Amino acid sequence: MDNKYLYIETYGCQMNVSDTEVIFSIMAKHGYQRTEDITKADIILANTCSIRDNAEQRIYGRLEVFAKEKKQRPGIIVGIVGCMAERLKEALLDSGKVDIVAGPDSYRSLPSLAEAVRPGQPQINVLLSHEETYADIIPVRTDKNGVSAFVSIMRGCNNVCSYCVVPYTRGAERSRDPHTIVREVCKLVADGYKEVTLLGQNVDSYFWKDESGNVDFADLLAMVADVNPSLRVRFSTSHPKDISDKLIETMASRANICRCIHLPVQSGSDRMLEKMRRRYTREWYLGRVAKIRKEMPDCAITTDIIAGFCSETEQDHKDTLSIMEEVGYDYAYMFQYSERPGTLAARNYPDDVAPQVKTRRLNEIIELQNRLGLESNKRDVGKTFTVLVEGPSKRSADELCGRASNNKMCVFPDKVHKAGDYVSVKVLSCTSATLICELV
Ligand code: 5AD
Ligand code: SF4
Repeated sequence: MDNKYLYIETYGCQMNVSDTEVIFSIMAKHGYQRTEDITKADIILANTCSIRDNAEQRIYGRLEVFAKEKKQRPGIIVGIVGCMAERLKEALLDSGKVDIVAGPDSYRSLPSLAEAVRPGQPQINVLLSHEETYADIIPVRTDKNGVSAFVSIMRGCNNVCSYCVVPYTRGAERSRDPHTIVREVCKLVADGYKEVTLLGQNVDSYFWKDESGNVDFADLLAMVADVNPSLRVRFSTSHPKDISDKLIETMASRANICRCIHLPVQSGSDRMLEKMRRRYTREWYLGRVAKIRKEMPDCAITTDIIAGFCSETEQDHKDTLSIMEEVGYDYAYMFQYSERPGTLAARNYPDDVAPQVKTRRLNEIIELQNRLGLESNKRDVGKTFTVLVEGPSKRSADELCGRASNNKMCVFPDKVHKAGDYVSVKVLSCTSATLICELV
């Protein structure tokens, strides 16, 4: 079979990074080799995200670039896969610039879709599934240094938060057989990987049942952590309404489960949380934070925040600022509300916070988080951390960088160690983004 080359650009979340690795694996079985050079590609795919409008606008920009490539080499195939494919379906074909549209549950059909493409005959598969988890597919790892890998443990989401398009683009929640997860992790360890991140839209609702019993997320986390004590285990994303005492206690009981929990709060106002359909209150959220702090005082807590959701008042916004202060987030992803067609919010609530008000509130949130992040880093000055080396630092060839268990980036002068080594460092000083360290 002739070698054909597949080039994929990945946008959006870690789940998409993981899906891209699944696509490479599926396509490899049909003779497609991975390339990072678009000018060599027989197929160009964009694995897309629909979570905010600007994510989709960016893809339209990329389609122009792909069209230029296709003009020079008319035989090549251009495809949109992932959430935007699922959301827009046939409408994506109107541009005339797309040959394949494939949703998140139809990647097994990509080889046959590619086979069937003819000029003027684009191919589309956007069927969602209740079963597909790609459990049997061994992903082609695309990380640069062979140290850290993503492992998808479930797909879809059943929560229907009112602002979120994900339940429509990724379908219903389903968990992956834990034995296939542990097998994949064992293989990663055998291949020299030192860190895995277990991925799901809402990992706390992971659940598997078979003849040998029930497995919830805490059980799964323990199974994965017990594969090897020198393997670091991370996970994302938790949901405040579902994160259990058992999960927090399981983390605390194993040193190789990293001390960082991503716990999206979205808003500090009960009125907004209700409207967002998050199904927890500010008080409940703070109770979960207190439990985490009690079991693991050194655990970082990070979050997602949306500014300017429907009908948000100045008081609601102040409630968000105050919960940020109260928790003292180590890191946050912060967004302006972007109305997504078809969601509960788009159908029921006007998007009525003026754009300049959204921007101003977001800026206040970012400014506060910059201070909180710096304060959090300053609290670490003087401490000693074990760091998993990722490679040379961005700034200097004489420095290495890597993350502490709490996920903070550490840089330190070192000419001896290499990616994948564990080293002990002491924090000397910090910026808002980095801990400046020395080897100890
Ligand atoms: N507008 C802005 N931000 C959103 N998010 C999800 N949907 C929207 C939206 N419509 C944010 C949430 C979520 C993160 C992944 O993206 O904060 O946790
Ligand atoms: Fe969207 Fe809510 Fe599911 Fe997250 S938990 S993917 S915000 S519906």
